[in-house]
Amino acid sequence: MALWGGRFSGGTSEAVAEFTESISFDSRLYKCDIAGSKAHVAMLAKQGIIPESTAKSIREELEAISRRIDAGDFEFKRDLEDIHMHIESALIGKLGAEGARVHSGRSRNDQVALDIRLYLREEAKRLSDGMRAFQKALVEKAAEYPDAIMPGFTHLQHAQVVLFAHHLLAYVEMFDRDIDRLADCARRLNVLPLGSGAIAGSTLPLDREFVAKELGFDRVGRNSMDSVSDRDFAMEFAGVLAIFGIHCSRLSEDLVLWSSQEFGFVELDDAFCTGSSLMPQKKNPDVCELTRGKCARISGDLVTLITLCKGLPMTYNRDLQEDKVALFDAIDTASAILDVYPAMISTMVPRVDRMAEAAADPALMATDLAEELVRLGVPFRDAHRKVGTLVKYCKEHGKDLDEVSLEEMRISIPEATEDFPKMFDPRASVAKRNLTGGTGFDAVKSQLEFWKKRL
Ligand code: ARG
Repeated sequence: MALWGGRFSGGTSEAVAEFTESISFDSRLYKCDIAGSKAHVAMLAKQGIIPESTAKSIREELEAISRRIDAGDFEFKRDLEDIHMHIESALIGKLGAEGARVHSGRSRNDQVALDIRLYLREEAKRLSDGMRAFQKALVEKAAEYPDAIMPGFTHLQHAQVVLFAHHLLAYVEMFDRDIDRLADCARRLNVLPLGSGAIAGSTLPLDREFVAKELGFDRVGRNSMDSVSDRDFAMEFAGVLAIFGIHCSRLSEDLVLWSSQEFGFVELDDAFCTGSSLMPQKKNPDVCELTRGKCARISGDLVTLITLCKGLPMTYNRDLQEDKVALFDAIDTASAILDVYPAMISTMVPRVDRMAEAAADPALMATDLAEELVRLGVPFRDAHRKVGTLVKYCKEHGKDLDEVSLEEMRISIPEATEDFPKMFDPRASVAKRNLTGGTGFDAVKSQLEFWKKRL
């Protein structure tokens, strides 16, 4: 009979057992479940709700169960529904009436909320370590090529010259915010739900503060109804990972473009690419493409979680069991990306010559001309129009901007000085951008120093 079977005359049908089980995905919570139960029984004994000797036997047996699960020597059965029932049944199987005391003052509703919070607290640390390693790989690659100049794009059109290192460091900034969001989410979820029971707390004299301290929570939940039904923290966690995923997806798109024949800005290591079953010459950037694809899954997981909670009446509803499917998938997918990406960055080789060739397009320096006019006292809007007229002149005469004489230039820009025709050097253009946040050599050098220190 199921542990909750007292009021039932018949058992669950096979199909329903299959439909309602969660052990196939929540078994990974076993360590958290056991940690929660150990703290709970310690509190029950301290409060005189169960004998000290019973608490001791339960704790020892919980540790034995943990070791058995670690070793793969524990049978998971669909009929026992979820991880909570498995562990409680194993306890009762071993300790009989003593084991049957573990669930005093507790419900699976506050238990599962506790387990997920404990699990996410650990995962936040692990994922943020992974993101740090990712940042490190980007910073090291950037530091290896501090002088490599490339075209910067807006609308995927040549915009202005930038440093390759500056481009990589933009992603380091994004991942830093992701790490920050993870820590923020972990801080907000660090509230103890246990003691909320099924919905309304307990008539037993539980010491919730004691349990919170044992388990490292900052405080106890203030409202039992909120505590058993709140999944904000799960949505938030998936949201953080979805944003991280979007960042990875954008980087992937950059690398897909850069490794194409048309760009040729980077060579990805063979270990991170695959070939075609038909075309012998192909080397495809599959890790990038799959990252782009997998990030769609994380976004989907976030949508699953928020849709799951939409319209749920207070308080716990079994719908919430599905939270773990989406949450774990988001975590596993982010982890999978973190497992491969840093090494792909470390082994990729930028083709500095190709970048330089592309960066030599004098149109990338058109803005510099306009800003030089501003320096000479021309209002920016007029300066912009004058340079635009020069660009038009060049198009009409089949010339590049650096191919016109000073006299021709003066047709559009009467203020042009001897210096103007010399302003199409990409290095000089980059070198002038040393304000904070700029792509100048010195500015990027200090950004690199900042990150090296920080990481
Ligand atoms: N497996 C359930 C879940 O993941 C545990 C809570 C079940 N509570 C209940 N009253 N049936 O949500």
